[in-house]
Amino acid sequence: MSATRIVDLFARDPLRQQRFVCEDVGFYLDYSKQRVGADTLDLLLALARQQQLERWRERLFAGEHINNTEDRAVLHVALRAPRGALFRDSGRRVSDEVQQVLQRMQAFAERVRDGEWRGATGKRITDIVNIGIGGSDLGPRLVCNALAPQIDGPRAHFVANVDGAELHQVLSRLRPETTLFVVVSKTFNTQETLSNALHARAWLVSSLDISAVDKHFVAVSTNRVAVEAFGIDVDNMFGFWDWVGGRYSVWSAVGLVAMVTLGPVRFAELLRGAHAMDTHFRRAPLDHNLPVLMALLGVWNSNFLGSASHVLAPYAQRLALFPAWAQQLEMESNGKRVTRDGVPVDYATTPVLWGSVGSNAQHAYFQMLHQGPAIHPIDFILPVFADHPFREMHRKLQANCLAQASALMRGKNADEVRAELEAKGLGGAALEAAIPHRVFPGNRPSSTLLLPRVDAFHLGALLALYEHRTFVQSVLWGINAFDQWGVELGKQLANRILDSGEEVSLDPSTDELMRKLRLNAR
Ligand code: F6P
Repeated sequence: MSATRIVDLFARDPLRQQRFVCEDVGFYLDYSKQRVGADTLDLLLALARQQQLERWRERLFAGEHINNTEDRAVLHVALRAPRGALFRDSGRRVSDEVQQVLQRMQAFAERVRDGEWRGATGKRITDIVNIGIGGSDLGPRLVCNALAPQIDGPRAHFVANVDGAELHQVLSRLRPETTLFVVVSKTFNTQETLSNALHARAWLVSSLDISAVDKHFVAVSTNRVAVEAFGIDVDNMFGFWDWVGGRYSVWSAVGLVAMVTLGPVRFAELLRGAHAMDTHFRRAPLDHNLPVLMALLGVWNSNFLGSASHVLAPYAQRLALFPAWAQQLEMESNGKRVTRDGVPVDYATTPVLWGSVGSNAQHAYFQMLHQGPAIHPIDFILPVFADHPFREMHRKLQANCLAQASALMRGKNADEVRAELEAKGLGGAALEAAIPHRVFPGNRPSSTLLLPRVDAFHLGALLALYEHRTFVQSVLWGINAFDQWGVELGKQLANRILDSGEEVSLDPSTDELMRKLRLNAR
């Protein structure tokens, strides 16, 4: 297939654009612009079967401890299942606990939204600040941003970075009396989050009083002891469980800020959309299964065709934060170098995932996608309907998206360039010199994913789709998608630098940089 041109595949099969599509849960995936034929798909599906994908999928839904290095179940699907579901972890019915927490979240969200929950001086809460990082930030931040037109509760703010500039900027717009902080941390020992929370608390206490903390701080965590030690009333803590991975956690109490600002009804829609995608993933045959097909295409492009990275191009301003969310999802999950059993892999695992919204991206790095020497397959994500009144602009957005996908596939050869330039009156040496710069090699694969609109239901389904895509890829690569040991070493060294001050020695370069920073700080 590496010598095959996608345009020729279309020429050979007049129904290709109807055959290489998959439709469900409101989504329409067109993968006809991928470099695959029917036989390629059969082989990829055989790979999925060889890797026992269906069995792994069942193990996930059955709550087996497929996160083997941490001996944990992986049950984010239980978080969005309807009441009455029967998910279990080691015999324990987790679905009941999920519903209990959801009910507490709903009651709390309604109290804040109705003005029943007030600040320490009796004022209504107008602003709610999510303090968390990684999975405790990216999911709720994306949801609040994507569904911003539907926010009818307090304004949402997000603070993640240990760079105090972010906290400073957020606090400078807020008043302590009307601000509620939600400290979100699965472990409740993440340096960035605790540091931001401590400074936020000091800001609050400096203008109110220490007793105000109870009315202005709530926590989301699995670590009750640490929440208590921090000084947050455990009655104001919303729990979740070790079987919820950080990057898969927006559906849990981690989504509390989204629930308060958007309201429990819209949050329930988000869960409903994700559950619909779970059902599709679990029930649809592999060859008509959105996450499975997308995962197979990902593996095909990177492991077989050697593509350099994978690009996400949502043509939807509302999905501006989607690539950042998906980066953590995919690269923290599948950035692994050993199999589940600890054997080094001799093939690539996750490619670099990157991207940003179209049409902006066209004016930034699409030049490289069209004419750079390396091939970077793209997922174009495009809503059919817009949520704004400027219809004409939405037509332009869609035209741009479709044009890019087509141009990347078709390209423009030297003869076409020559004819174009000759028509403009160019000739001789100037014409010959101009041609190579204007040739587009084409044959650059992409998939186009249409969704009806960026509403809570389809946003939930979209995120679940990519979660399952990530899981399927991990099965194809034989790795554990649910641990993240690779983030630990840097954390340890940062603590060593912080704890041992001047004495610490890491390596000559780092030692010299520390010396420079100390000198400049004096
Ligand atoms: O450092 C990586 C990580 O552990 C992520 O997996 C996680 O989403 C993030 O940090 C935040 O962790 P926590 O929710 O425990 O503060």
